[in-house]
Amino acid sequence: MKLFDVYAINNISIVKAKGSYIWDDKGLQYLDMYGGHAVISIGHTHPHFVQRVSEQLNKLAFYSNSVKIPIQEELALKLGQVSGKEDYQLFLCNSGAEANENALKLASFHTGRKKIIAFKKSFHGRTSLAVAATDNPSIVAPVNRTDNVIFLALNDEDSLEACFRAQGNEIAAVIVEGIQGVGGINLTNESFLQQIRRLCTEHGAVFIADSVQCGYGRTGKFFSHDYADVDADIYSMAKGMGNGFPVGGIIIAPHIQPKLGMLGTTFGGNPLACAAALAVLEVMESESLMQNAAKTGEYLIRQLREMPQLKNIRGKGLMIGFDLPEELKDLRKNLLMNQHIFTGEAKPNTIRLLPSLALSRKDADEFLEAIGEEIHAPALQA
Ligand SMILES: Cc1ncc(COP(=O)(O)O)c(C=O)c1O
Repeated sequence: MKLFDVYAINNISIVKAKGSYIWDDKGLQYLDMYGGHAVISIGHTHPHFVQRVSEQLNKLAFYSNSVKIPIQEELALKLGQVSGKEDYQLFLCNSGAEANENALKLASFHTGRKKIIAFKKSFHGRTSLAVAATDNPSIVAPVNRTDNVIFLALNDEDSLEACFRAQGNEIAAVIVEGIQGVGGINLTNESFLQQIRRLCTEHGAVFIADSVQCGYGRTGKFFSHDYADVDADIYSMAKGMGNGFPVGGIIIAPHIQPKLGMLGTTFGGNPLACAAALAVLEVMESESLMQNAAKTGEYLIRQLREMPQLKNIRGKGLMIGFDLPEELKDLRKNLLMNQHIFTGEAKPNTIRLLPSLALSRKDADEFLEAIGEEIHAPALQA
C-alpha cells in the first residue's frame, strides 16, 4: 500500500529529538525553530512529559467517556489555574479542527442561530464547519460550501459594525485567531478584539477565540487574546497542549450550559492525552515558560529588526513572522540545507518562527547567527 500523497515533504527522516533539537537518520542535528508546526511547547522529549505519559501508559491507556475519568478533572483544574479561566468548563477532543468544529456547533446550539463571522486569511481546520470558516477555497470541498459563513477583513471595525447592524440577530458566533498563523502571522488589533466582545454581548452572539496556534502560552500570555483584556465565550486549543501527543479542547464560559449528549467523542479526554496535557502545564509553570517565550521572543524580534534585508518583522512571544524580498526567496530552504535549521512558512513569502517555548537565548543566538550568515547581515548587537 502507498501513502495518500497530500503533503509537500522535505526528504528528511527525523528519528530523535531533545529540547529544541532534532536529529535525522544520518545523525545530522537540526535546530527546530518550527516546533513541528507550533506543537512542541515544552521541548522535545521533556523528561517530565516522558515520565508522566509512560506512567499513565503502564496504568491505563484508555477507557471511554462512559465512566468517570478523574484525570480529566485534574486537567480541568490545572488548566483553569494556569490560564486564569477558573470558572470555565472544559470539553476535550483530539485536534484543532475538532475543537473549532465543537466550538462553532456549540455556539449554534446555544444561540439557535446559523450565521458565523470569520475573517479573511483565517485558518480554523479541515473538518466541515471549521473548513467552511477557513479563508482558502482550495481546501473547501463542494459539500462544505455554505452561505452561513460571512468573511470580513481582519481589523476592519466599520465592516464588523455594519455586519452586526444588518444581521446581528442571525449571528451565532464570531471566530477569530488572536494572531493568524497559517495566514502569515497577522496580528488582530486589541481594539478589534474589544469590539468583537462588545458586539457579541450586545447581539447575543458567541465570541470564539481560536487559540489552536497562538494560544497555550506561545505569545507570552496564556491566550494571545488576553493582551486585549477581553474574555471570549469559548477558547479552542490543541497544538501545544500535548507537546506532540494529540489532544485538543475547548473551554466554555459559565453562562453556556451543557445538555446531555450535546457534544461527544470516543477518544477525547482519554487518560494518556490528559497525562500529556497535565505534564505540559506542570512544566510550563515550573520552568516559567510563558515568561521565557515573552523574553526570548522580544529578543529575537529586536535582533531580527537589525537585519534590514528582512521585512515587516512582527509577532508576539515565540510566534514571529517576517517577509522575504524576492532575492531572498530561497532563505527557508537554505536555512534548512546549509544551516540545518527548521522554520515554518506562510505563502507567498513569509517565514514563521514557532519554536518550543523553552527556546534558550543560546538557541536564539544560534538561529540569528545562521540567518545573518545566509543574508550577510552585520554581527549580532549586544
Ligand atoms: C489557528 C488554527 N486553528 C485550527 C487549526 C487546525 O488544527 P489541527 O490541524 O490540529 O486540526 C490550525 C492548524 O494549523 C490552526 O493554526
